[in-house]
Amino acid sequence: MKPLFTKPLLPYHAGFFLLVAVTGIVISQLTTEYIILFSILAVEYFILVVIMLHVYDKYMKPVKKAAQTVDEFIKGNYRARVHHSTGGSIGELSDKLNVLARNMSEFKIQEQVQEEQLSTVIDNTQSGLILIDDKGYIHLVNRKFISLFGGETHDYHGYLYYDVLANETIHETVQETFLYERNIIHSFTQFIGVDKKYIEIIGAPIFNERNMLRGAVLLLYDITHLKKLELMRKDFVANVSHELKTPITSISGFAETLLNGAMDDKDTLRDFLMIIHDESTRLQELIEDLLKLSRLEKDDFKLVRTTVDVNSLVSEVMPIITQRAEQKGIDLKTDVADDVMLEAEAQQVKQILINLLSNAISYTPESGEVRLAISEEDNNVHIQVVDNGIGISEDAIPRIFERFYRVDKARSRNTGGTGLGLAIVKHIVDVHDGTILVDSEQGEGSVFHVYLPKSEEVSSQSMG
Ligand SMILES: Nc1ncnc2c1ncn2[C@@H]1O[C@H](COP(=O)(O)OP(=O)(O)OP(=O)(O)O)[C@@H](O)[C@H]1O
Ligand SMILES: [Mg+2]
Repeated sequence: MKPLFTKPLLPYHAGFFLLVAVTGIVISQLTTEYIILFSILAVEYFILVVIMLHVYDKYMKPVKKAAQTVDEFIKGNYRARVHHSTGGSIGELSDKLNVLARNMSEFKIQEQVQEEQLSTVIDNTQSGLILIDDKGYIHLVNRKFISLFGGETHDYHGYLYYDVLANETIHETVQETFLYERNIIHSFTQFIGVDKKYIEIIGAPIFNERNMLRGAVLLLYDITHLKKLELMRKDFVANVSHELKTPITSISGFAETLLNGAMDDKDTLRDFLMIIHDESTRLQELIEDLLKLSRLEKDDFKLVRTTVDVNSLVSEVMPIITQRAEQKGIDLKTDVADDVMLEAEAQQVKQILINLLSNAISYTPESGEVRLAISEEDNNVHIQVVDNGIGISEDAIPRIFERFYRVDKARSRNTGGTGLGLAIVKHIVDVHDGTILVDSEQGEGSVFHVYLPKSEEVSSQSMG
């Protein structure tokens, strides 16, 4: 039981005691009947006070407490609780308020979680996002948008889009989305530092349940890699056409000259037929290389790995290469460790060796040196092709694996090169989950390092 005399009733007690004091002074002047009457009144008053205090403690105080708790709920504090151990309807009210608080607190937590999930999704999406209301005010920009356009969130929130975004294409997209009330797609370029980015922007109108336009959401996609692929495809088609055109023009030109009478001269006939033969061989090689590349690039390309004995592979390759080296008077050395085994597609590894060794011989002057070294290193087989030839300049190194790239077009064409050899090597190394590195200095020579994982498990482990 709580103490009966609580602070709120102090003024009443004080008043009562004052009254008793005054009454005492009056009584001292009165007769016995009056004294009895006053005493009865005093006792009745006392009983009344006790009843009032009881009512206050049992009913008014819990209601007041409940009101204070509801005030806390209004402020958003759902952790507030009514602590009052009374039974009856007041106790029931307290319990229900506590249940209500618990439910509201759960709702609030759920709402917070959903809000956090949504903002995580919006912020981590790889597309820029802007939300604009029907008056043109920006309500939301995500992290990707900030990374594309700079600034901070507060530089955009609450501002009119045309005041804070200078890009004309964005303005056009917003205006057309509002005007035509349908999805609008545009694209533009944007510089981020020195990087040129291609951005595709999609404006989508937002409608309310009565189908009235309420704003627009703008999505910005970075399509730089797609543009680059498109450019590469265009370049590739142009390059292939060019590479095919040269030998075909030459073949048809010489054939025409022969038909026009030159074939009557035996020597000319022989010379021209030699040229036609060489050019058609070149054409054939080019087409074979293109087919090799397209097979490697196919989405459903599957490696057929077998256990390859590297030594026997080298002995299959050497006769082809030795002949070419001898023709140029190049000293060809091999240094292959014993019992090196590799899980790979034998034909493809052979292609790596042929292409790298052919290059080393082609780009090394007569009486130079070329060396093939193969060893085991940790989980990899390390293939090294070393030459002391013309070398490759630093700025050309990153480009030599591109299709059709040749450092010196004229010289390479003399060697019969098409510029596809290293592109094929790179693809083969990639499909085996290996690595290729180049060490080269102009005028000094080059070293091509290829690391191939010894087995499929090793390669998948290193990838994971
Ligand atoms: N060992 C090397 N030394 C110097 N330059 C090299 C060497 N290997 C490659 N290069 C340079 O890289 C370019 C690309 O080589 P790649 O093998 O792809 O083409 P290619 O030899 O010209 O023609 P092919 O398709 O017939 O091999 C060459 O044109 C050459 O300029
Ligand atoms: Mg080559």
